[in-house]
Amino acid sequence: MSVPTVHSEKKGSNLNIIVDSRENIARRAADLYSEVLASKPDAVLGFATGSTPLDLYAELIARVKAGKLSFKDVTTFNLDEYVGLEPTHDQSYRYFMDKNLFEHIDLDSKRVNIPSGIAVGEGESAAYEAAIAAAGGIDMQLLGIGHNGHIGFNEPNTPFGSLTHKVTLTDSTIEANSRFFASRDEVPKEAVTMGIRTVMNARRLVLIALGEGKAEIIKKTVQGPVTEEVPASVLQLHPDAYIFADFEAAKYL
Ligand code: GLP
Repeated sequence: MSVPTVHSEKKGSNLNIIVDSRENIARRAADLYSEVLASKPDAVLGFATGSTPLDLYAELIARVKAGKLSFKDVTTFNLDEYVGLEPTHDQSYRYFMDKNLFEHIDLDSKRVNIPSGIAVGEGESAAYEAAIAAAGGIDMQLLGIGHNGHIGFNEPNTPFGSLTHKVTLTDSTIEANSRFFASRDEVPKEAVTMGIRTVMNARRLVLIALGEGKAEIIKKTVQGPVTEEVPASVLQLHPDAYIFADFEAAKYL
């Protein structure tokens, strides 16, 4: 592993915790992608939305443009999507991924997978799980974290055994995400998300947390009990999980 890490001091936790400046985190997280794709050019990568991964995505794009990285044989699966938004809606996660990453790298659009926000049901959720399995499972899954500890759209008290499913968003998540919409009323109330087990099945997890607003939840995630009340705390049970936190998000560690 080329990225030096601080190991969690919590007994029984395998978490690799990297604390650095915001700028360096994007570069160091991108190093994981360079490393994975060097050993497995046709890796299966799980991507995430939100403001947190934007610097990482810019760094990945720069590496592709510089000829240092290629996604041409990669398959992708995204964590989640809002229910009711067409892929062309400028707040859909499909649109976000196209604009902030996929359109700028040499990825084959036929190998892009994002849950549909339009065709939503148990059959579609099962088909998403089947597609992940058919691709050989996810090699590395990127995660952000909500202020309440949600990963993907798995809100507090989502069962750790959950697979891809439809969720009702909490008021706090609707409030937090309303900053991207013209008004709070326009934020979808439901989403489709990979479940906690879907996430945990990935062979490697990479969670990024930036800014002071994430400091308390990062402390709970890393040092608190493993509990469904804090979905991200499940990462303590993963054999190969990385948490990249900037100095502000890591201030209580
Ligand atoms: C949304 C996404 C999550 C993301 C979270 C945090 O709720 N579904 O996957 O981690 O927002 O967003 P941000 O990175 O903007 O803080």
